[in-house]
Amino acid sequence: MTTPTPINAVETTSLLCHPGVFLIEKDYEIILLCDKPAMASVIIDGRTFTDNVNGVMRTDTDVHKIKVPMALLDKAKAYRVHLSPLADHCNYYPKPEPTEAYEYDFIPIPETGEIKAYVLADTHGQVTVPAETALAHGRFDFLILLGDIGDSAATKDQVTTLHRLTAAITGGNFPTVYIRGNHDTRGYMAEHLHKYIPTRDGKTYYTFHAGPIWGVVLDCGEDKPDTNIEYGLPETGGVANFLPFREAQTDYLRDLIANANAAYNADGVTHRIALCHINFTYTNRPFNDKNPALYEKWIGCLNEMGIDMLVCGHEHRVGLQPESYFHGDPTPAFGTLLTSAHRDHPEPLRGGHKPGEFTGTSLTFGEDGLTYVFTNHKGEELDFK
Ligand SMILES: [Fe+2]
Repeated sequence: MTTPTPINAVETTSLLCHPGVFLIEKDYEIILLCDKPAMASVIIDGRTFTDNVNGVMRTDTDVHKIKVPMALLDKAKAYRVHLSPLADHCNYYPKPEPTEAYEYDFIPIPETGEIKAYVLADTHGQVTVPAETALAHGRFDFLILLGDIGDSAATKDQVTTLHRLTAAITGGNFPTVYIRGNHDTRGYMAEHLHKYIPTRDGKTYYTFHAGPIWGVVLDCGEDKPDTNIEYGLPETGGVANFLPFREAQTDYLRDLIANANAAYNADGVTHRIALCHINFTYTNRPFNDKNPALYEKWIGCLNEMGIDMLVCGHEHRVGLQPESYFHGDPTPAFGTLLTSAHRDHPEPLRGGHKPGEFTGTSLTFGEDGLTYVFTNHKGEELDFK
């Protein structure tokens, strides 16, 4: 991975890795990791966007999220990052240290023509091999990181796998879509994860619309019932309270349908996808057993939206999930694609781990709709569908 190089090198602070530019609704959230607490801003075509809380610049943090309008950055195709440490955020006459600046080119998702995305899921704290896998495939327009990117949210090192992996692949130069996985809900920092990841005002379910692609991101949370002993005390409650969180997403999907012309039926949308770490269309899973009606509601909504594909991780397998994995009502009118494996030559729909190997998925949004191919860390295409 290349190291961020400032254009002025005042050496007051530095980016630990290139910025991540994440798609959220009709904006980007640019996420910056610094080597020490600093104030941060992003400048695009003469407009400055800062990381502030109700007008007060954040000085006591080394991770920053700065929201910028997608249309502005897509047009400018470049942005600048400013970092300024402030050791003493005193009442009057604070003295920030000199500003370190970085400049990045940016390539937006094209408005027309064929568009390619690369999907990695279940990297579980790895950066090198998954990054090699995406880069070996060649040029693509946006990256999809589909959950369980760290092995947990127990440590900062695990949580920042997301930023290091995004930086290694995109170099801060093109967009990424991030989806939280169930492992990302575990551990000491799980309740603070929203400070490190792109969110819709704190929420991990959202939509995005870039070029002709409209996507809805869903988040099941954990993969077992909230009352599972792994999360605490089954009778009086533990650390998992995902059922109301999932039910809120049913309401969210219904709101999207009620406002379809501002969402999946908006002008210019020709491709519709749903992204979720867990393949909730697989009925025989414990958390599905406890909530069968809930996921039937999600499937009914996605059917109504006319999505082309539900793209998932979690299983450490690749392949199109057999229709027989779902037995409920309504039947999904879309396929469920499993996208990552920890081997260079996995069998379709079978797992297995081999150190130093990885398989991800290339998605192509073209005139023929959404097509996919699985590629390994050597860039070889796996010949099965
Ligand atoms: Fe998972």
